[in-house]
Amino acid sequence: EQTPIKDHFGRVLKDLRISVIDKCNLRCTYCMPKEIFGDDYPFLSESELLSFDEIVRLAKTFSQLGVEKIRITGGEPLMRKNLDQLIVQLIAIPGIKDIALTTNGIFLPKQAKKLKEAGLKRVNISLDAIDDDVFKEINGKGVVTLPVLKGIEAAQQAGLQVKINTVVKKGMNENQIVPMARYFKDSDVILRFIEFMDVGNHNGWDLNHVVSKKEIVDVINSEMPLEPAEENYYGEVASRYRYQDGGGEIGVISSVTDSFCGTCTRIRLAADGKLYTCLFASSGFDIRKKIREGLTNEQLTDELTGLWGRRKDRYSDERTENKHNNRKKIEMSYIGG
Ligand code: GTP
Ligand code: 5AD
Ligand code: SF4
Ligand code: SF4
Repeated sequence: EQTPIKDHFGRVLKDLRISVIDKCNLRCTYCMPKEIFGDDYPFLSESELLSFDEIVRLAKTFSQLGVEKIRITGGEPLMRKNLDQLIVQLIAIPGIKDIALTTNGIFLPKQAKKLKEAGLKRVNISLDAIDDDVFKEINGKGVVTLPVLKGIEAAQQAGLQVKINTVVKKGMNENQIVPMARYFKDSDVILRFIEFMDVGNHNGWDLNHVVSKKEIVDVINSEMPLEPAEENYYGEVASRYRYQDGGGEIGVISSVTDSFCGTCTRIRLAADGKLYTCLFASSGFDIRKKIREGLTNEQLTDELTGLWGRRKDRYSDERTENKHNNRKKIEMSYIGG
């Protein structure tokens, strides 16, 4: 039985994004710059992480409040031990219609089959360049594209649907837009470009670094003609475009030049049990504390309903309206995007 709940602006709660770990094996310059995320960075300890039981309890309660879609993120979620066991339990929750994983793909050759057997249907894999030298610079670890390409292949062989996420930042990889599009055209993989966003406090974001949705579509369209396609589901973050010659589709996620807060149905659960009602929130709601203090199911339902009911976040829309946003934010690697 699901009872949909609405926030202050009438937006329904539909998606739960769960970050299962704040660590990552890469150090992408725009996400976890190695100067900040060094050997002495205070990552969460085992006891700070929510247990699988705690995550499942929250997911069950959220599903009763209308959540139909779960996304697992990190950091790098495949670094969380026995992740497949969590997926088995999440999939068994009545009302959950879709469950997906966002990963850098490097551990997929080892794990894709196990994840598929656990019941996972699809993965979104991050890859910001197809040229090795460009990719090596971006990921901060000198990793070439091959391990990621092998991860993509492993996912496909296991029968998982694959989307690729490419963050575009001016001066970093705008020369990769067309090569990436060419590489994935006519394949089963859906490529999505993401406008560089001002998440976190360390990525030196500046509007001048953003390559707009329009620029991205124009440059691809001039070589490989595109036409707009309708959205797959209410509030889909990516705008879709299909190749006119039938070579598949691409997507663009334009949180900067064409924000989508009006249809934002997402809540985020960080690995340490803090709940965030926006990707750009400056503080979270500590549900782990309450769980470990022993709140009842009824109290849990009330807390979550209240939190969503008070929600007024519309950060990206406010950015467009030029509101001041110099506040401290949470890190992308911690909240999971
Ligand atoms: P699908 O279910 O496959 O459509 O996935 P998704 O696009 O919702 O999720 P994914 O984790 O692949 O995220 C792709 C990009 O969209 C990432 O850069 C996310 O940070 C960004 N994104 C997802 N949800 C939001 C959101 O609510 N607000 C903003 N600003 N960006 C978001
Ligand atoms: N802007 C846009 N996308 C980002 N991601 C990480 N940091 C940023 C940023 N500053 C992407 C990752 C991954 C997804 C979850 O979010 O590359 O594909
Ligand atoms: Fe890791 Fe993804 Fe962040 Fe890169 S963008 S550092 S792969 S979490
Ligand atoms: Fe949702 Fe916040 Fe993203 Fe707007 S900026 S779409 S409210 S998460």
